[in-house]
This record gives sequence, structure tokens and C-alpha cells, in this order.
Amino acid sequence: MSWQAIGIFDSGVGGLTVLREIFRALPQEDTIYFGDTARVPYGTKSPETVARYAHEITSFLVRRDIKLLVVACNTASAVALNGLKREFSIPVVGVIEPGARRAVEVTRGGRIGVIGTAGTIKSSAYSRAIKRLLPSAEVLTRACPLFVPLAEEGWTDNQVARLTAQSYLQELKDAGVDTLVLGCTHYPLLKTIIAETMGPDVVLVDSAEETARTVVEILTKKKLLRPDAEKGNHHYYVTDIPAGFIRVGNRFLGGRLGDVYQVNLENEREDED
Ligand code: DGL
Repeated sequence: MSWQAIGIFDSGVGGLTVLREIFRALPQEDTIYFGDTARVPYGTKSPETVARYAHEITSFLVRRDIKLLVVACNTASAVALNGLKREFSIPVVGVIEPGARRAVEVTRGGRIGVIGTAGTIKSSAYSRAIKRLLPSAEVLTRACPLFVPLAEEGWTDNQVARLTAQSYLQELKDAGVDTLVLGCTHYPLLKTIIAETMGPDVVLVDSAEETARTVVEILTKKKLLRPDAEKGNHHYYVTDIPAGFIRVGNRFLGGRLGDVYQVNLENEREDED
């Protein structure tokens, strides 16, 4: 079973920031990445719709015999994780819990900011996870929807990005948060500008790094790691034509994207019937 791949999905390219961290932590592992590029964004959709998409994609990946699933999308983790854990028997790792855990570890005064998509912030999933671990924590949240197109456009270090960051983050800064959780797949690409805006006293928590650490922990505990000497193979599936995913994805992943295949989840459903 240790030879099976790790499955990972996102609404589109953003989850490649999580995949990048998994590559770093576990270069010996095979991975199958699924980007739902025909239906992105998830951050503006209802929890019911996102949960249905998440279920369809997980079924697809489980049929490809994965040993563990990473829900790289914050929005899907926020609204669909518990359902996936109930419905599927493989280990399912979301990005919320690892990010919350890290935030609680690094906060000095318990004043924690969380930024994410409208869907993630509305779900209060981060606030609940943080307060479960540190009941005295004060969690301040802010949806930053424009960060997603800015990151995809590569506008991560210009005046537009700087002004956007200021208008989204000034309130959290003024409120004196000492820690800020980057609760969206795209935000690590804007880390420099977010750090600049928040100032040197605020610690940024990157959910992607923490999630990779959690995957290592689980696979180690379950004795499911491939031997260190191996070199992983990586496959990519998307639901829209691959061109845009490849163009933007190379930047998100750092230029190592392999072959990308387009799939139609409706055909998959018919095959099941
Ligand atoms: N991947 C989404 C997330 O992390 C951001 C993009 C979207 O809205 O689909 O929440």
C-alpha cells in the first residue's frame, strides 16, 4: 500500500502551492493532482455546491487508488472535510487544522488574524479550529477575494497588489493581531507584500507548509511512506482545457509541472452507473 500515490485536489491551480510543499517534504512519493478548473472559483459558491464538487473529485481520486487525500483548497476544507472523512475510508487531510495548529503555536498574545475567500471566512472553520486549541484566542477574520486573481495574474509585487493588501489588511493591523493565517491556496504567492503591509512583528502562517508536515506525520505513523531512495512520479488532471492551468501552474509550482490531462467528471459518473 505504501506504493500508492497521494491524491490532492483544489478548485484550480492554487493547490499547487500545497503540492510544492509536499514535493519538498516527500520527494519519493507519487502524487495525483486534480484541479477543478472548469468550475473554479469555489470561494464564492455555496457550501452545498462545494461539498458536492469535493465528493465527486474524491470519488475520482479514490478510484485511482490513492493512499491519502489532501484537500488543498481552503474553501473545500472549510465546508466539506467532515463529510469526506465520513464517506471515504482513506485518511483525509485538510488545510484548516494544520494552519490553526501552527497559529496557536506561534501566537504570543492570542490575537490571531485569518484571511481567506468569502466562503472560508463565512464558514468560521478557522475560528472554530483555533478556539478549540486555544479557547482564550481572539480571532479576527477578513475575506480578501481580490488576492486570488492578483496571484493568478502574477501581480504579486506591484502597486495594485500593495494597495489591495493595504485596504484589506489595515483593519487587522490596527487591531494588533500578532499572527496572520494565510487561509487560501493563493496567498503564499503574495507573502512578501502581506508581510510588508503587516510589519515585522506579525508572524505569517502558511497553511501549505503545515499541511505537508501533517501528511508526513500521518504517513509515517501509518507506515505508508515510500522508501527514501525513490523518486516520485506526478500526474495532473483538470476539468477545463489544460492551457491556462499549465501557464499559471508553472509559476505556482516553480516550473516543474508534468503532463496535464483533461477529464470529464460526468463521463466518470456514467461509467459508475
Ligand atoms: N482554492 C481556493 C481556496 O483556497 C481559492 C480559489 C477559489 O476560490 O476557488 O480557498
